[in-house]
Order: sequence, then C-alpha cells, then structure tokens
Amino acid sequence: MTQSLDDLILQAKDKFEQAADSASLENEKAKFLGKNGVITGFMKGLAQLPPDQKKAEGARINRVKQQIELMLTARREQFARDQLNQRLAAETIDVTLPGRGRAMGGVHPVIQSWQRIEEIFHSIGFDVADGPEIENDWTNFTALNNPENHPARSMQDTFYVDMNDAGGLPFLLRTHTSPMQVRYARMNKPPIKVIAPGRTYRVDSDATHSPMFHQVEGLWIAEDISFADLKGVYTNFLKAFFETDDLSVRFRPSFFPFTEPSAEIDMMFTSGPNQGRWLEISGSGQVHPEVVRNFGLDPEKYIGFAFGSGIERLTMLRYGVNDLRQFYEGDLRFLRQFNR
Ligand code: FA5
Ligand code: MG
Repeated sequence: MTQSLDDLILQAKDKFEQAADSASLENEKAKFLGKNGVITGFMKGLAQLPPDQKKAEGARINRVKQQIELMLTARREQFARDQLNQRLAAETIDVTLPGRGRAMGGVHPVIQSWQRIEEIFHSIGFDVADGPEIENDWTNFTALNNPENHPARSMQDTFYVDMNDAGGLPFLLRTHTSPMQVRYARMNKPPIKVIAPGRTYRVDSDATHSPMFHQVEGLWIAEDISFADLKGVYTNFLKAFFETDDLSVRFRPSFFPFTEPSAEIDMMFTSGPNQGRWLEISGSGQVHPEVVRNFGLDPEKYIGFAFGSGIERLTMLRYGVNDLRQFYEGDLRFLRQFNR
C-alpha cells in the first residue's frame, strides 16, 4: 500500500501530460480524485487501519492528493494559456492596413436654426430658457386662457400621457412652447425678456406638419412694451436670420386665447428665388391681461408681447426645403447638404 500510494504521483503526472485536451484531462482527474477515484479508495481504506496508524497514513494520503491537485491545476492552466494563444493568433489584425476613415458628424439643419435664433435674440438682450416637454394641463392650457372645452385640448390634437397631475388631470406633451411664458414669468421679476426654444408635439402629420416639431417662444413684458416693439424686434430678427434686408413683414389679424390683439406674422422675400409670396411664419400678439394675471403680475401695470414661431418652418424657408418630413427621415444625402 505504501509503495503504490507513492507511485500514484508519477502515474497521475504521466496521465495528465498525455491528456491531449481539457476534456481528457478532466477524465483523468476523475480517475484519481473523483468519487470513485483511487485517492478516495485510499481514504476509505483508512477505516481498516489500527487507530495508531490512522493519523500518519491519513496525512500521507492528503499530501499525495495535494500534489496531484497541484499538477492538475498546472495542466489546466497550460490548456487555458494554449487556448488563449491560439485565439490571439487567429484574431491578429494587420495594423499596417489602411483604415476605413472616420466619418464627421454634423449639426442637424433644424438645430442649426435653433442655435442661430438663440444667438440673434441673445445679442439683443433676451435670456434663453428651457422647460419640460411633459406639461400639466394648467400650464399648457388653463393659464394661457384656453377655455375648458377648447378643441386644442381634444385627443385629436394633443398627446396625453397616462398619468395624473396634482389636480387629477392627465399630463400631456406640450403642444406649443407657450407654457414657458407662464413658467418663466412666474419665476422671474419684470422686465421679462426671454426666448424659449424647444420640442413640441401634436397629433399632426403631412408635408408641413410633423408630430414632433420645434417652436421658439418669445416674451417681453415690462411697463411700456407695445405692439410696435414686437414689429421692430421680429422684423429685425427675420432680417438677421435670413441674412437679407430684402424682405417684407406683415402682421395679419388672427386669434389666440392668450393674446389680444393677436396676429399671424407673414413674410415675403422681395428678391431671390422665392420672392413675391407671403408665407406664414409665426403666431404673435399682445399678452392677454388674464395671462399677465396668471404670471402673478398686475395687468394694469405690466404689458408686453409674445410670439411663437415654428423652427422647421424657418429652416424650410432658409434652405428652400418643401417637405418637412425630410428633416426626420435620417437620409444622409439630404442632411449632408447642410454641413458642407
Ligand atoms: C401656437 O402654437 C401659439 N402658441 C403661437 C403663439 C405664441 C401665438 C405666442 C401668440 C403668442 P400655432 O398653432 O399657429 O400657434 O403654431 C405656431 C407655429 O408652429 C406655426 O406657424 C407653424 O410654423 C408651427 N407648427 C404648428 N404645428 C406644426 C406641426 N405639426 N409641424 C411643424 N410645425 C408646426
Ligand atoms: Mg398658426
């Protein structure tokens, strides 16, 4: 018994070395260390030994077992190393090959307009504000003097979100940037002079309407801001935006619940390829006294104007794009033209 236990180490060494892959190695392992393996057999045999020999013999078996385990681990690691080296060899890349080139990203034309608008208004003293796209009913409609049964509140026009605000009314995706008038005015002291560009949403889809689109809100409230200021500010904005003095602007009477009087702003190029056609650019008006009150201000003291313009519309005019959906199809042949 003594002799054969010592032989085991050499036997295992041979068998482990002969194993050609890790499957056969694990097979050999079972023969030595497994439940029915030789070492286990020696352990069981201990029971027959007289008590005074048990301890020494047990220790000897354990030493042999440890030796075999060490050899097993070493061989396992060798297989793992071999496998890794094979993979590395198979996956080598030729670093001397020419690369595929690195594509340059570009700024989307609508975002380019957004940035231009911010620059222009910032240069004449407007603050730039940002607000939530998920709005509550009060800020998007009620505070803006929209009556309870106004059609804009219907499911046909507005995306409702399946949650309730504090008043038990559903949240919605803002249908315009006008709620930013309310948010900003309630958080700042007059004079209030701000633009708020951002994404807006309506159940709408055709060549000039998209379910997601961009607007820029403008609001100027002080003690002495009149419709004349709106005309001056907006006309100068259009000239700066289109980089031309050759355009006419007209204010056409219209209706919005939150302005009184209200006007659509139309413009016409007086030179160039698109000259001679009036185009609607923006809603606008003098802020309604009821809305000024909802700002938390006294409408007897504060007065001013607001406008809300479609940024896609401005972009289409600037570049002569006739279908708004092209902005959102992600066709690089279209988009690349704006990043030369
Ligand atoms: C409004 O949204 C008002 N809040 C504008 C306003 C603000 C008036 C402040 C007075 C004072 P309107 O629904 O007309 O108004 O939208 C304004 C502009 O947004 C339109 O002229 C158009 O250019 C753009 N627009 C509206 N719906 C879409 C759409 N589905 N896709 C792309 N642009 C749109
Ligand atoms: Mg309109």
